[in-house]
Amino acid sequence: MRHLKTPLAFLGFALLALLTAERVLCIRSLDGSQIVMVERNEAWKTAVFALGSFWRAEASFGCLPGVIRTLAVYAGGTKTNPDYRSLGDHAEAVQVDYDPKLINYRQLLDVFWASHNSTQVFGQGPDVGNQYRSIIFNNGTEEARMAATSKEKEQAKIKSSLVITQIEQLGAVYPAEYEHQKFELRRHPFLLQLMGNLPDEELVQSRLATKLNSYAAGLCPPATQKLMDSKINDILKKGWPILQEL
Ligand SMILES: *[C@@H]1O[C@H](CO)[C@@H](O)[C@H](O)[C@H]1NC(C)=O
Ligand SMILES: *[C@@H]1O[C@H](CO)[C@@H](O)[C@H](O)[C@H]1NC(C)=O
Repeated sequence: MRHLKTPLAFLGFALLALLTAERVLCIRSLDGSQIVMVERNEAWKTAVFALGSFWRAEASFGCLPGVIRTLAVYAGGTKTNPDYRSLGDHAEAVQVDYDPKLINYRQLLDVFWASHNSTQVFGQGPDVGNQYRSIIFNNGTEEARMAATSKEKEQAKIKSSLVITQIEQLGAVYPAEYEHQKFELRRHPFLLQLMGNLPDEELVQSRLATKLNSYAAGLCPPATQKLMDSKINDILKKGWPILQEL
C-alpha cells in the first residue's frame, strides 16, 4: 500500500465492467440529481446483510472468491427513497452479488458473524444509532432457516452476552448514493487512477473495484493483500499503469 500516493503521468484506458447478458435490477433517483443503476446476471444470487457502516461492510465481503460485486444499500425500513442524511428506519447494509457455484449463503453467513460485533446494542464500534443495527436479510425459506441456525451457533459460541442480530425477510432495497459506493477505494485516488478513473456508473458495477475496495481497507486475506501489492508494483514498473484484473 506504500505506493498509493505515487503520481501517475498518464492514463488512457478505462476498464469496462462485463455488462452483457445482465439486466437492470434497480434504479435510484436522488432529487433528480443522481441515478444509481445496477445491472445483474441471472446466474448470480444476492444476499443482503446489515452489520454497521456500509463503508466497511462492502469491504468485508468484496475480496471473497465467488463474490462478484458489493453494493452499499439502505434496507430493513419502510421509508421510500431514503438517503444518507435522512434514511428513516432503514439500516445501512451491503448487497452481495455472488456466484453460487463458488460461494454459498452459509459461507457468507460465516463472514457476516466474523466481520462485526453481534452483541453491541444500538451501534457498531464507534458508530452509534439504529442505522448500524445487525440484520440478516433472507428470502424467507431455506435462507431463513440457515440464518436462524447460524445465529444459534454464534450465541452458543459467545455465551456471556446476547446476540441481538435480527433475522428478517428482505423487503425493498435502495442503493446508496455514489459517494458511499466503494468508499474505501475512493479514499485512495491512486487506485482509482490505476483503474482508469471509471465513471461512477461503471465503478459501481465493477468486480475489480469491489476487490480493490477490500484491498484498500486492508480486508483481503494477508496473502491476497501481498499478492495484490506485488501485482500493482509490477504494473507500475512496466510503465503501463492500467489494472485490468487481479
Ligand atoms: C462487543 O460489544 C460489547 C458491547 O458493547 C462489548 O462488551 C464487547 O467487548 C464487544 N466484543 C468485542 C469482541 O469487541
Ligand atoms: C431462497 O434461498 C435459497 C438458498 O439461497 C434458495 O435455494 C431458494 O431457491 C430461495 N427460495 C426462493 C423462493 O427464492
